[in-house]
Amino acid sequence: MEIKEAKIFQDYLNGVITGSETETSKKLFKDARSFYENSDCDLSDDTVMYEVYSYSQGDPKQTGNLNWGLTVMKPVTVNQECNITRGHFHEDLNCAEIYFCLHGEGLLLFMDENDHCYAEKMKTGTVHHIDGHLAHRLVNTGDEELRVGACWPTTAGHDYARIEKNPFKVRIFKENGNIVVKERHS
Ligand code: F6R
Ligand code: ZN
Repeated sequence: MEIKEAKIFQDYLNGVITGSETETSKKLFKDARSFYENSDCDLSDDTVMYEVYSYSQGDPKQTGNLNWGLTVMKPVTVNQECNITRGHFHEDLNCAEIYFCLHGEGLLLFMDENDHCYAEKMKTGTVHHIDGHLAHRLVNTGDEELRVGACWPTTAGHDYARIEKNPFKVRIFKENGNIVVKERHS
């Protein structure tokens, strides 16, 4: 019997996912400006807001195949608004996802199909089930990196347009060290 080395390695507590088959991407401030209420600030365009690492095997169009991922969110604010991911619905609303917090503190923000928003608190060790019908966005409310692992079907896809057309109704700010939730009633 052949015993093979694992193709990827994850330093769960202190690091990221490495290995030749790991895909990585960086979200720079210049590409994230539209996520925030007011992006007019001193952050340079090239500031890294978050990094995404992912790994999968097989045909991504094949039902049942999985992605394994990690999002690393920097502890930066934009005019006191906490760092957020772009946020999305899955294109296939039947595809759920699991998030698990590996480091830091944050909120997992959900929005349902009636625009109702709510959040789950994240800290090292919390595990979160994301129903396929819910939009989801990470918020780093802490003073350190927020590192969140994820597992989801390769067939899920990302529907960003739906969130851009109909954004989350809440924004999370850090004012004098306090987390402040601002809701938009429209
Ligand atoms: C995949 C998923 C995560 C996010 C990542 C970045 O379905 O939810 O891997 O893609 O946290 O967030 P977005 O894609 O919203 O920029
Ligand atoms: Zn997702």
